[in-house]
Amino acid sequence: MKITLRLIFFLVAAVALVAVVFSYWQVRQEEYRLKSDLEKRASVIADSFKIAVEPFLLSDNAQHLQRIVDKFSNRERLLGIAIHDVRENPVVVSTGFLSRLQANPGVTAEGIQEVERLGVEHGSFSGSGKEALYAHTVPLMTGDKISHALTLFYDTGYVRERVLRLWINSFWRVSIQAFLIALTTFLIIYLNVMAPIKKTTEWIKRVRKGEPARSLEAKEQLLLGPLAEEIVQMARSLETARLAAEEEARLRYSSESRWTPERLKEFVRLKLQDRPLVVVSNREPYMHIKTAKEIECIVPASGLVTALEPVLNACGGTWIAQGSGNADRETVDQHNRIRVPPQEPKYTLRRVWVDKDTEKGFYCGFSNEGLWPLCHIAHTRPIFRGGDWADYKAVNKKFAQAVLQELEGVADPYVLIQDYHFALLPHLIKSAKPDARVAIFWHIPWPNPESFGICPWYKYLLQGMLGADIVGFHTQFHCNNFIESVDRFLESRIDYEHFTINREGRTTWIKPFPISINFNPTEENSAQKTETRESLLKKYGLQAQWLGVGVDRLDYTKGILERFRAIENLLESHEAFRGKFTFVQMGAPSRTMIPKYKEFIDEIARETERINAKYKIKNWQPILLLMKHHSHQDILPFYKAADVCLVTSLHDGMNLVAKEFIAARDDERGVLVLSQFTGAARELRDALIVNPYDIGQTSEAIKTALAMTVKEQSERMKKMRNTVKENNVYRWAGALVNQLTEVRLGPEDKSA
Ligand code: G6P
Repeated sequence: MKITLRLIFFLVAAVALVAVVFSYWQVRQEEYRLKSDLEKRASVIADSFKIAVEPFLLSDNAQHLQRIVDKFSNRERLLGIAIHDVRENPVVVSTGFLSRLQANPGVTAEGIQEVERLGVEHGSFSGSGKEALYAHTVPLMTGDKISHALTLFYDTGYVRERVLRLWINSFWRVSIQAFLIALTTFLIIYLNVMAPIKKTTEWIKRVRKGEPARSLEAKEQLLLGPLAEEIVQMARSLETARLAAEEEARLRYSSESRWTPERLKEFVRLKLQDRPLVVVSNREPYMHIKTAKEIECIVPASGLVTALEPVLNACGGTWIAQGSGNADRETVDQHNRIRVPPQEPKYTLRRVWVDKDTEKGFYCGFSNEGLWPLCHIAHTRPIFRGGDWADYKAVNKKFAQAVLQELEGVADPYVLIQDYHFALLPHLIKSAKPDARVAIFWHIPWPNPESFGICPWYKYLLQGMLGADIVGFHTQFHCNNFIESVDRFLESRIDYEHFTINREGRTTWIKPFPISINFNPTEENSAQKTETRESLLKKYGLQAQWLGVGVDRLDYTKGILERFRAIENLLESHEAFRGKFTFVQMGAPSRTMIPKYKEFIDEIARETERINAKYKIKNWQPILLLMKHHSHQDILPFYKAADVCLVTSLHDGMNLVAKEFIAARDDERGVLVLSQFTGAARELRDALIVNPYDIGQTSEAIKTALAMTVKEQSERMKKMRNTVKENNVYRWAGALVNQLTEVRLGPEDKSA
């Protein structure tokens, strides 16, 4: 309050000072204008009067002169007229003015003397208050001599009145301005500062007492601006730290051996002993995108990012990835690095730039038109072009340079390479830096040798990957396929007991590491206001009794069309669900430069329209297609409100949507329908497992899910939650790092 009063006082004082200076200047101007008007007017009248009286001066006709004087005296503000001879004796004075004239002898005398001395007219202001007057004297000539002086006397009280009025007006103006300024300042400060601070203080108090640090409401955020975000962030960090400490204590007490971020951090610190951890992937964890107003930072839709981000958050290190946002270059430093996450930096993102042409061949071409369909076997023919292969090799080399740059002068570093974009990278790194421990984790399936062999460059891919100390897959099945491929195509020694491949004196371990998510329901649930099915659908003008949800990148491997057909089949064969079951498909457009993906997106839109047109009624439709990039916070309420989540991939390395859905269901409700062709199906046995190609089976599974008793839902969900909780991404990272530390670097590694 003191600050507000001080601010108001200084603002009012400043405004008053400006107003006073300005008013003073205005008053002076006005006074000057009025006086010079009067002088001009008096001069004109005196001149005409002079012409009228001069001829009568010699004739000594006093009566006539008196008449003329009286006639002229009758003018506005003219008090009187007097004619004096040069000895200052009054000759004629307008009637009734003599006494006033005698009261101001000085003025008259001064005028007469000046006129005599200079021979020109003279004006002077004198007196004050009621006595204020202006005397204007002109010489009267007889022949060529000054014989008399004519003086006009004006009442100048009106000038004073006008000046006074101006001051009074200024006073009121300043007072009203001061009042309005004080009021506005107070209101602005109260609404924009005091009230939000009060609310924030209450909010901080609540957080301190243990309530969840939900975000400040949008209105509050607007008022406090960036400060609010910082406070929310700080409160969240405190809350996370508190929850982590509680969790650690609980785990210690119950002797559970769950992996937590703290445990992984400690584990990695012990194992790595200050040696740096470098992660490489094509997709970056944070993309900077230019919008109309500002640069926005988004997390791309990618299972790989979902899994690795919490690991880097826990352990720190450097993540090397391709800069693909249109504002990425503007946000990095001169070494192409940026600290992330933006709200609370914990590790370094190093961006690598790939020009558009090379990216087309590397990313769209070889990686996604070649390797992706090759590994997924989802009935989309792989395309292999020589040019794409050249680009793939070039980008792998470029990334190798970036990794080596980051590792300059570092002994025994750990490098975790991600996915099918970098099959050649392990060998490139290992041959330049043999003391690096290198793992490549393949996030997608590995096909059987027959399928893999159709790639013209299969040998180079295998050789490149075998440069790593560890080649990891999600499942043992994919490990087996890989080992069989090596066995079929390369000269090597395979140890089936330990799952190692020995080639040219180097050993590579082939191991399954089923990836997972950061299972942290407390954090997620505390940050989220619960929305109901009704409120979620109402935003789209819909109503439904049951809600289904699907969350995918719009990719032909995800079985989205098969899912839609299963829904159609459900409505076809079970009328009871018409008008009652709505399925929300949240789909992030992906790889849209590739024709297959473009066609696929169009097909999804067409199928949605077709099925909706068939069954749609007022306020209800079977499928709601939300085709855009959604943040995790956007998706969470749908996970929480859904009766059933459909994951119907035709082939999928793991599929983390299934695990995210389970993590979101702390109410132990909802049913997961899961494709048997996902890696996740091997762990989540309590889902309703389906063959997505069997439309009837999927449709029946949806029916079973919607009819499932709360008890059964809860039993299944509880078990799946325990599985995901136990096998979280920290365990995955811990196992991978642990395996890497177990690797014994041979003499050829040390010396090469
Ligand atoms: C899969 C791949 C990831 C990839 C992600 C998103 O999960 O295994 O490597 O990042 O899809 O695809 P995108 O092409 O957008 O990176």
